[in-house]
Amino acid sequence: MMTLILHVWRQNGPQDAGKMETITARDLTPEMSFLEMLDVVNDRLSAEGKEPIAFEYDCREGICGSCNLVINGEAHGPENGVTTCQTYLRSFKDGDHIYIEPFRARAFPVIKDLVVDRSAFDRIIQAGGFVSVNTGNAPDANAIPIPKAVAEQAMDAAACIGCGACVAACKNASAMLFVSAKVAHLGLLPQGKAEAKRRVRKMVAQMDAEGFGHCTNQSECEAVCPKNISVEWIARLNREYMAASVGDDGEYHGAGNAGAAG
Ligand code: SF4
Ligand code: FES
Repeated sequence: MMTLILHVWRQNGPQDAGKMETITARDLTPEMSFLEMLDVVNDRLSAEGKEPIAFEYDCREGICGSCNLVINGEAHGPENGVTTCQTYLRSFKDGDHIYIEPFRARAFPVIKDLVVDRSAFDRIIQAGGFVSVNTGNAPDANAIPIPKAVAEQAMDAAACIGCGACVAACKNASAMLFVSAKVAHLGLLPQGKAEAKRRVRKMVAQMDAEGFGHCTNQSECEAVCPKNISVEWIARLNREYMAASVGDDGEYHGAGNAGAAG
């Protein structure tokens, strides 16, 4: 059995100042996931008539992107290439002190305790992160040949689960890794090319409007990304944005600010 000393961010609502609270978590095993550990703690808090810790999750298998904790200063905890829900207590030692905080960014306001509002990402997707289709029969899957290398690149970019760890890890709270992955996975495929220019301009404009900062090539985003999305996509985003912002007169007409040069 393991015991961990948790220092948990408690915040009663968006307007509350919030503070760290120390909670001792007992009767744990190394096989437990980090979220199961919080379940155990919450069961006990509820039994004692105390307010359970609010935290977010859905799939608990690394695909939905809704679990989002900063654990000992690292978004998604100490292991590379995994989400918070795929973090296990075997990564910690009996008696460890563990600091648990929400993803912090102006564009991700805290709702309660460890839950943040990431709807800014939804609005960026709504601005252009889709391929428009006419209703009707689904097209034959083999009707549009796509080179294997391009399909694999698009799949790599499509691995982004929209968790927001890239924002939380960035000193500028930049969302460019997320936006670049979405722009790439749609723009690489022939189905997405027709809207590519409009898409990149609109998504970057929305990203700026939401208050995310600019990329300054620190690569902290890549280091914490549970899906190993590469910062090379940010360079591609900048190229695509620049190409989409040059008018027929050859002049640059970009209104947004795509950040670091690629
Ligand atoms: S790029 Fe990585 S860290 Fe950022 S939202 Fe996508 S999966 Fe999460
Ligand atoms: S709960 Fe879905 S990725 Fe963690």
